[in-house]
Amino acid sequence: MPNGTEQGLIEPHGGKLNPREVTGDAAKALADKAKSLPQRQLNSRELSDLELLANGGFSPIDGFLTEADYKSSRDTMHLSNGVPWSIPVTLSASKEQANSYKGDIALTDVDGTPLAIMTVAETFSYDKKDEANKVFRTEEDKHPGVAALYAQEELLIGGPVQIFKRPENPTFPEYRLDPAQTRAAFVERGWKRVVGFQTRNPVHRAHEYIQKAALEITDGLLLHPLVGDTKSDDIPADVRMDCYRVLLENYYPADRVLLSVLPAAMRYAGPREAIFHAIMRKNYGCSHFIVGRDHAGVGKYYGTYDAQLIFSEFDAQKLGIIPLFFEHTFFCKRCEGMASTKTCPHGADDRIALSGTQVREFLTQGKEPPHEFSRPEVAQVLIKAERAKASAG
Ligand code: ADX
Repeated sequence: MPNGTEQGLIEPHGGKLNPREVTGDAAKALADKAKSLPQRQLNSRELSDLELLANGGFSPIDGFLTEADYKSSRDTMHLSNGVPWSIPVTLSASKEQANSYKGDIALTDVDGTPLAIMTVAETFSYDKKDEANKVFRTEEDKHPGVAALYAQEELLIGGPVQIFKRPENPTFPEYRLDPAQTRAAFVERGWKRVVGFQTRNPVHRAHEYIQKAALEITDGLLLHPLVGDTKSDDIPADVRMDCYRVLLENYYPADRVLLSVLPAAMRYAGPREAIFHAIMRKNYGCSHFIVGRDHAGVGKYYGTYDAQLIFSEFDAQKLGIIPLFFEHTFFCKRCEGMASTKTCPHGADDRIALSGTQVREFLTQGKEPPHEFSRPEVAQVLIKAERAKASAG
C-alpha cells in the first residue's frame, strides 16, 4: 500500500502501515465464520481501539497485546522488539469467558453485531495496580483512566485481530480519514513536514497560537481532535467540531490545514499518552507533533511539563516524529498579542488567563469570554451549546 514515504512523508511507526481491516470476499468469509464463534462484546473504549487497529492508526501492532508485549510496554514503554509503545492496548476477559475462548472469537459492537475475529493466542493475569502506577503514575480510582482500568475483567487476552466490518453510524464520517487517506491528502497538497495537533477541548486562542506557530515552520497542519470517549464533563465532540469549523472558516488558510478526527478514547495518562498520541499521528503522516502544557492531563496528577520531559526517555530516531514543545501561552495586553513566559516579560496582571470554571461562567450566562481568550465565533458556538444543554434539562 502506498503511504507517501516515497513522496517525502515520514515512515509509519514500525516501518509500514498495518491496517487490520479485511475487505471483499475475505471479509464475507470471516463474517460467516464469526457467527458460530464465542462472542466478546466490546465497550465504546474497546471499539475505539478496534477502529485504530482496523485503520492502521495503531501500526505496527496487529491486535490486543500478548503478555511479552504487554509487560514490555507497561514496564519499558517499548514493545518487546524495541519499538516505542507507551500504553498497553489490551482486551480483558473474565475467567469464565477465558475458559470458553479457545482459538478464534468474534468481537462485536455494543448491539452484538460481529465486527472482527480475534485469534486468542494467550490468556494471562495482570496486576491492575502495577499497571495503574506505571501508566498513570497513580493508583487512585478518582483518575478516570485508572477507574476504567479497574473496571476491566481480571484476565487479559492477547492476539491478532481481523476486522471485517467497521462499527456502524460513526460520528463525523466526512472527517474520519484513515492514516492512508490523510497521507494521500498530504501528498496531494505537496506537504512533507506536517504538524499534528491533538485536542479534546474546545479550541481557544492559545491552541490557535501554538498551531499557527508550528505551521510557520512546517508545510501543513493536521487538526486532529480526538472523538472517542472523553470524561463526562469534557465538552462533547460535536460541539468541539462546530468550534473548529467556524474557526477554520474565519481564521485559517484552507490550503494549509486538514481537519480530521482521531477515533481514539482519552486515557488521561498525561506523559505516556503524549507519546502514544504522537505515535498515532506519525501513522497518520505527521512529521511533527505539538505538546503544550499538561498534555492529556487530568486534575493535578501530572506536572505542567511532564508530557514534554518524557520525550527525553526515548531514542529520537526510534520515535521518528519530532515533538514541538510549547510553554503555557496566554494573551498579554502589553505585548498586544499571544505570548508565553518565554517571550513576554510582563506580569500576571497584564495577562488574560481564565480558568475552566471562569469560562463556563461566561458561557452559562450567555456572555462571550474576552476575545483575547476565545474567538467570538467559537464563543457563540459554545453559548448555543450551553443553551441547548440547559433547555434539555
Ligand atoms: S489534551 O488533553 O488534548 O492535551 P487540550 O485539548 O486542552 O487537551 O490540549 C491540546 C494541546 O494544546 C495539548 O498539547 C496541550 O498541551 C496544548 N495546550 C492547551 N492549552 C494550552 C496553553 N494555554 N498553552 C500551551 N499549550 C496548551
